Amino acid sequence: MQAITVHDRDAGAGGLALTELPHPHAAENDVVVRVHAAGFTRGELDWPGTWTDRAGRDRTPSVPGHELSGVVVELGYGTTGLTVGQRVFGMADWTRNGSLAEYTAVEARNLAPLPADVDHTVAAALPISGLTAWQGLFEHGRLAAGQTVVIHGAAGSVGSVAVQLAREAGARVIATGRSADRETGLALGADVFLDLESERLEDAGQADVVFDVIGGEVLDRSAALVCAGGTLVTIAAPPEVRPVDGRAVFFVVEPDRAGLTALVQRVRDGRLKPAVGEVRPLAEAPAAFAPGGGRRGRTIIRVVPDGPAAEGSR
Ligand SMILES: NC(=O)c1ccc[n+]([C@@H]2O[C@H](COP(=O)([O-])OP(=O)(O)OC[C@H]3O[C@@H](n4cnc5c(N)ncnc54)[C@H](OP(=O)(O)O)[C@@H]3O)[C@@H](O)[C@H]2O)c1
Repeated sequence: MQAITVHDRDAGAGGLALTELPHPHAAENDVVVRVHAAGFTRGELDWPGTWTDRAGRDRTPSVPGHELSGVVVELGYGTTGLTVGQRVFGMADWTRNGSLAEYTAVEARNLAPLPADVDHTVAAALPISGLTAWQGLFEHGRLAAGQTVVIHGAAGSVGSVAVQLAREAGARVIATGRSADRETGLALGADVFLDLESERLEDAGQADVVFDVIGGEVLDRSAALVCAGGTLVTIAAPPEVRPVDGRAVFFVVEPDRAGLTALVQRVRDGRLKPAVGEVRPLAEAPAAFAPGGGRRGRTIIRVVPDGPAAEGSR
């Protein structure tokens, strides 16, 4: 099968190449998925799990990409809940070969059934952004109706989903981002937009939850916005400045079948729209990975081209 692989830690995105790899094996509790669409995170080439397995052993050449949408083609021993031919979407393991490939082996519990009326491109943009926003707001931040939340980077992949979910949950949403993101932030449902390039973050006022995706100085200054008993949640890095009378949480998103099911239901009934950016074929994944400005939304790699023939493709 064809896959995008990396083997040289120092090469950055320039080390990504389209390669021929053996078909993956479905281990116990795994399924093999024919990948139709896949997402990736540009920073993942810096993550230890890209290079080593759980025991710290070199696992190169490795396949990047940790979110996918596709069709189950094989079940491993003991796998329950999914069937061959079923449409699925979800997250690939951090320390195994990922989704930038024609086929990938994934633990079945990391996937959820994908309804027939949701396109693979949209579904591939949902797992990491959607679960991160959900877990950050409601599990770690304990956000409730009537509370105020500040959501940084609201025009980005995670932030845009967070704004929509927080709004739906009945929170007052203060979105932040660059000057050019104001219209997007407000269109997503934010009550207020704070432009971090020309306005003072401190003018956002006090919030029950601050959800940070940016880190650095923005994260440091966010601690002061958290009201007594509130929570600073970040996905960027462990916070160095903590709220005086509140919690500070850094977390890494976890796979969650029930969460995926709740998210995709929102997509189906129009309550949630993940931010899909460029859509490119597998051979162009190395170019799509390269750093560069001006990209909006999640870049999706369409491994099987869209269209009526796609669903029949195994
Ligand atoms: N811990 C976890 O589980 C987890 C999960 C998902 C993602 N992440 C990480 O979280 C970060 C965000 O992910 P994402 O997918 O949402 O990224 P993204 O789509 O690039 O969104 C980030 C948003 O924040 C904006 N932004 C960045 N720096 C800013 C600044 N100084 N002032 C104003 N706006 C700023 C960006 O604008 P521009 O595009 O104009 O820069 C963009 O709109 C990434 O580093 C990602 O690796 C962590």
